[in-house]
Amino acid sequence: MKAKEPLFEYISPDIDYQIKVGDSLTVLQKIEDGKFDLILTSPPYNVGKSYETKTSIEKYLATQEVIIKELVRTLSDKGNLCWQAGNYVDKGEIFPLDIYYYQIFKKFGLKLRNRIIWPDMDFTLQTVLVVVIMLVVTIFPDYLFDVVFP
Ligand SMILES: C[S@@+](CC[C@H](N)C(=O)[O-])C[C@H]1O[C@@H](n2cnc3c(N)ncnc32)[C@H](O)[C@@H]1O
Repeated sequence: MKAKEPLFEYISPDIDYQIKVGDSLTVLQKIEDGKFDLILTSPPYNVGKSYETKTSIEKYLATQEVIIKELVRTLSDKGNLCWQAGNYVDKGEIFPLDIYYYQIFKKFGLKLRNRIIWPDMDFTLQTVLVVVIMLVVTIFPDYLFDVVFP
């Protein structure tokens, strides 16, 4: 289902919220520790889209790791971090980013609680139907993934 725009219609006027526009790292560095109970993000995949400069997978992951460190610092001790991870593609070779991100999350003491997968068409691969994977990680030991099925 495609959400109707403007998205502000979905936000209850009773909720106290802020929208910050800027570079994610710069914005995060100004946020206090443990602020967020939920972080949901879909970062660039390093595939050379207009908003990113394609680089080596090592450099890309190192840059993302700096941001992940800030996310872990700003995540509350009962918070969830949901990270959408696509595929980095180089010379026709696919690098499933969730495999790499999993290692980074473990380094920061996060534990994988769920792996949500859905199909997508990746035009950098031209004809291939690929999957998009969202990793749900948390530090909170008594984690409950509460899915309500219709
Ligand atoms: C994979 S796309 C996510 C698209 C999003 N899920 C959507 O449906 O619009 C990555 C997004 O990260 C944004 N982005 C790239 N570098 C960024 C940065 N340093 N700080 C904040 N946002 C950034 C891009 O503009 C792009 O919208």
